[in-house]
Amino acid sequence: MYVAPSILSADFGRLDDEVKAICEAGADLVHVDVMDGHFVPNLTIGPLVVNAVAKSSTKPLDIHLMVENVPFFVDLFLPLKPKFISFHIEEEKHPLRLCDHIRKNGVNPAIVLNPHTPVSSLEYIINDVDMVLLMSVNPGFGGQKFIPSVLDKAKQLRELIESKNAACLIEVDGGVNGLNVSELDEAGVDIVVAGNFVFSSSDYAEAIKALKL
Ligand code: DX5
Ligand code: ZN
Repeated sequence: MYVAPSILSADFGRLDDEVKAICEAGADLVHVDVMDGHFVPNLTIGPLVVNAVAKSSTKPLDIHLMVENVPFFVDLFLPLKPKFISFHIEEEKHPLRLCDHIRKNGVNPAIVLNPHTPVSSLEYIINDVDMVLLMSVNPGFGGQKFIPSVLDKAKQLRELIESKNAACLIEVDGGVNGLNVSELDEAGVDIVVAGNFVFSSSDYAEAIKALKL
């Protein structure tokens, strides 16, 4: 299991130290939550701060866009050359075109599904994305309760990936902790995002280790 700590739960007054600490503690990716106050009822950070995070980080960035006007935000973050840019399929009218645009700029495109959005919505795009992010909370805030129906969705998604012979990773985001990670592993999940579980711990390395099965 790969682990992507979400800096949403970091101490933003010491962001440089926090990003360095999770990288040293064994993070595989640094998950960055961009929220616009429209798609979700919260507002976080833009390219200025994410650029600072990129400089502090020794690990690739995993940028999760929770925004309206998705192509505008994609173009703001492409120059930072993250590993992934993921956007919500619920918000974008032309997801295939946008995935193609992201890929042409040297970044791996990824699609996010809210908890209510079915796996079947991916049938005609699964071969064009490098990762699917399944939300296991309603997006907008850290520290929420894990929605267990994501386990069934992850299994369905694994079947879709295999049936279409797609090269696509499965990531789960929201309420992940040391107790539910083994069920996620059994369901075929490749990467877990964890905010509160890592940053509320007094030992980031121990918390990340508990998620790496
Ligand atoms: C929620 C964000 C998540 C969040 C996860 O909208 O997308 O990345 O930071 O935080 P935890 O792990 O605390 O649920
Ligand atoms: Zn996220």
